[in-house]
Amino acid sequence: MRGISQIFPGVKALDGVSIQLFPGQVTALIGENGAGKSTLVKILTGIYRPNEGEILIDGKPAAFHSAQAAIDAGVTAIHQETVLFDELSVGENIFLGHAPRTRFGTLDWRQINLRSGDLLRALESEIDPTIRLKDLSIAQRHLVAIARALSVDARIVIMDEPTAALSRKEIDDLFRIVNNLKRQGKAILFISHKFDEVYEIAENFVVFRDGRAVGKGRLKETAQDEIVRLMVGRDVKDVFPKVKVEIGAPVLAVEGYSHPTEFRDISFELRRGEILGIYGLIGAGRSELCQALFGITRPSSGRLTLEGEPLDIRSSSDAIRAGIVYVPEERGRHGLALPMPIFQNMSLPSLSRTSRSGFLKAANELALARKYAERLDLRAAALSVPVGTLSGGNQQKVVIGKWLATQPKVIILDEPTKGIDIGSKAAVHGFISELAAEGLSIIMVSSELPEILGMSDRVMVMREGLAAGIFDRERLSAEVLVRAATGNA
Ligand SMILES: Nc1ncnc2c1ncn2[C@@H]1O[C@H](COP(=O)(O)OP(=O)(O)OP(=O)(O)O)[C@@H](O)[C@H]1O
Ligand SMILES: [Mg+2]
Repeated sequence: MRGISQIFPGVKALDGVSIQLFPGQVTALIGENGAGKSTLVKILTGIYRPNEGEILIDGKPAAFHSAQAAIDAGVTAIHQETVLFDELSVGENIFLGHAPRTRFGTLDWRQINLRSGDLLRALESEIDPTIRLKDLSIAQRHLVAIARALSVDARIVIMDEPTAALSRKEIDDLFRIVNNLKRQGKAILFISHKFDEVYEIAENFVVFRDGRAVGKGRLKETAQDEIVRLMVGRDVKDVFPKVKVEIGAPVLAVEGYSHPTEFRDISFELRRGEILGIYGLIGAGRSELCQALFGITRPSSGRLTLEGEPLDIRSSSDAIRAGIVYVPEERGRHGLALPMPIFQNMSLPSLSRTSRSGFLKAANELALARKYAERLDLRAAALSVPVGTLSGGNQQKVVIGKWLATQPKVIILDEPTKGIDIGSKAAVHGFISELAAEGLSIIMVSSELPEILGMSDRVMVMREGLAAGIFDRERLSAEVLVRAATGNA
């Protein structure tokens, strides 16, 4: 791709960038939230037409007038937000738009299901191609999106944060496939915020900052610090600025919380100003516990006490009214109104606080949004632009901001920095720490050990739906947590 520019109203998302992909090699595209990575992907897959620049394949100009044209030219992508259809089967989702047909021109279901099964098995997954997508977990859906991209016989494979929703084992499976694709001579563009993955799988890197390519090279010859410096234009040191907070009285007590299938007999106490980390492998029941605490699902037994008063939560609105909010892991699908401006999205759940009079409302909303945008390091052209135009990571910051704006007593953060770049991560961590210092009680689910170890006052480890232990900060170490999470005592 040569001299590519992409202009959106108010933003030059890409400014004359050039990148090269090579057969049999992985090129990592690295950059902060909003740097222009996904925009480049959308150009290379025919979704956007760039304002300037050209795409050359084997040295010959290739102009993509549609997504189909890109597929025909041998380009396939796993997008950051892959659109899949809940009501369709797994196989239909994989082959939608390019399904094998019988000689009579009708869909060849046998082939669709057979080939879907093969693709999924190559990903070490036993998902049945005939079941409906809506019955799958987040990680399984992601595998379907990956299988969909691989179902096109392509020479150029693009992966925009493919590992964000995957467990370590699934990442290993994916990387095995990537290595296979390499051996077949495919050219791969890989986007991730996780440096260990980048170094593991990629040969080359390109760093974007503010829509420009600011550095490229071979990973073997480049230290991580140097890449971070290129990304953020400064040194990033303290990613976990946990401030020491005086822990106060108990705020929330959970006793014997159980769910028919997902978790059993969970008890813990959360104090004022405390950050309680919840660690565990994917599937341990962490998110399900959070959802029950927030009233999305009902526990089969157990009791909640908030500030000494028994609390019965039957719905999310009960939880919000009581001062408990939940920022889910899969933020894209949970409650952003994409066509609405950022500031309205942020004030959505706290409308009662900002809507005293119609006239004051907009001004209040803006002031509120400005405060949280600043503290979360949100990168947007203006707070009046539609949330849907933000980069993936910046959309996540809006979701976090919108729940914080309700000024809750307890906030449950599920993987708070997933998809957030290393520079903003520090901002988000700093903010979480400040909130604790202001007396908010925080439950933080995370699969990232450094984050859990760096941020938590105490950590509850979950394994197969049970609490495998609660550890104080003094006793915390990676080894202790991993042992408890895997059951390898
Ligand atoms: N459809 C659009 N309309 C207006 N602005 C857009 C649109 N799509 C992207 N942008 C803007 O272009 C810039 C680059 O966004 P992009 O999604 O490419 O970032 P990214 O590098 O993928 O970030 P992330 O790591 O958060 O996914 C951002 O400022 C974003 O707000
Ligand atoms: Mg992106």
